[in-house]
Amino acid sequence: MSPPSEVTQTHLEAFWMPFTANRQFKAAPRMLVAAQGMYYTSEDGRAILDGTAGLWCVNAGHGRPEIAEAVKHQVLQLDFAPTFQMGHPGPFALAEALVQMVPGDLNHVFFANSGSEAVETALKIALAYHRVRGEGSRQWLIGRERAYHGVNFGGLSVGGIGPNRHLFGNLLSVDHLPHTHNLTHNAFTRGQPQWGDHLADELERLMTLHGAANVAAVIVEPIAGATGVLLPPVGYLQRLRQICDQHGVLLIFDEVITGFGRLGTPFATEYFGVMPDLITVAKGLTNGTIPMGAVFVRQGIYDAFMQGPAGRIEFAHGYTYSGHPVACAAALATLDIYRREALFDRVNHLATAWEAAAHSLKGTPGIIDIRNLGLLAAIELEPEAGRPGARGFEVFRRCYERGVLVRSAGDTIALSPPLVIEPHQIDQLFTTLGEAIAQGF
Ligand SMILES: Cc1ncc(COP(=O)(O)O)c(C=O)c1O
Repeated sequence: MSPPSEVTQTHLEAFWMPFTANRQFKAAPRMLVAAQGMYYTSEDGRAILDGTAGLWCVNAGHGRPEIAEAVKHQVLQLDFAPTFQMGHPGPFALAEALVQMVPGDLNHVFFANSGSEAVETALKIALAYHRVRGEGSRQWLIGRERAYHGVNFGGLSVGGIGPNRHLFGNLLSVDHLPHTHNLTHNAFTRGQPQWGDHLADELERLMTLHGAANVAAVIVEPIAGATGVLLPPVGYLQRLRQICDQHGVLLIFDEVITGFGRLGTPFATEYFGVMPDLITVAKGLTNGTIPMGAVFVRQGIYDAFMQGPAGRIEFAHGYTYSGHPVACAAALATLDIYRREALFDRVNHLATAWEAAAHSLKGTPGIIDIRNLGLLAAIELEPEAGRPGARGFEVFRRCYERGVLVRSAGDTIALSPPLVIEPHQIDQLFTTLGEAIAQGF
């Protein structure tokens, strides 16, 4: 049975929707039933311009036949095969293709099924790495306020979004760096802000507090996406790297959003010129078509595990669907599109027009900040007293009514379109958003 082409009121109840106000949504649903290129089609037949690449993932645009063909072929050729003590060609070929794209000696890839699982995997690798080297005291993990690393227990622990954490009691041994978002110093900055690299020195304070010899890893998103596109000040990520190096602590970049071209380079690590020890990716890896996540691991970390008897399982971790054949086929077809159409470089050509369009909204009443980098932008609204997030949601709703999909993160509107966006669609996106905000509250 395939999904129905429309959903009636009686179909709505059973699905407990994720990160959604279920009762509000079910009272007035917003349903998408098709997608092609830069546009969704809504249930009522309207074209909806995709300003969010789905959920930061459809970087090559919707409905790519090359990916569909690869998936179909793979299901018929080899629908599933285990990767526990067995192999099949897909994940080997995909891992090889990925390590060619990543700089330095991030030479090994562990597969998962989502960004959340990639993060759990990276944190477990970090903790286990220190154990296998005889530094088992290194158990503290350092995250950052306003970070989003998914919703599993490790990612939640290092994550820095209060409402995501509050219901779950004691999490892992973690502490948090302060976030880098500061409107007093950095409002309306184009690109990376100049002010704020000193915030990285807080890491030294946390090392002193917990004992550097007890700290396993620091995890940050190079750009915090989900909480509203918070940019790293110039020099900030470099400083984190230095401090980690001084203390033998691993640095993890969570590139679930910034990976696969969002900044005009394959990964943010090249854009910022900072090499982490592990990188987590998902989303754009398969253009959002089939769930998949991955962790890139530096040579020395992998080597530390490859010790002892050859018949021993070196890392007791993995998912039934790690390296799933169909996900691998989707990912390989996606990487082909990125390369053939030079989509990452396309971002570099569009970035100036994108920045200008975003900042053209400056002066619209109610906007307190505009920020951008690569094909990312955020428009922050003055919150309504006592109702945080209400204006952001209202603007999201108004844009949808006007045929544009944006994402509200509290009172910030976050934008991350497919990398295939055309200049006239950039205009449509920001014109619609500007009108939705200018309507007032
Ligand atoms: C930086 C980051 N890490 C992890 C995740 C979690 O990914 P998933 O929703 O695929 O579990 C996200 C999702 O938005 C993310 O932005």
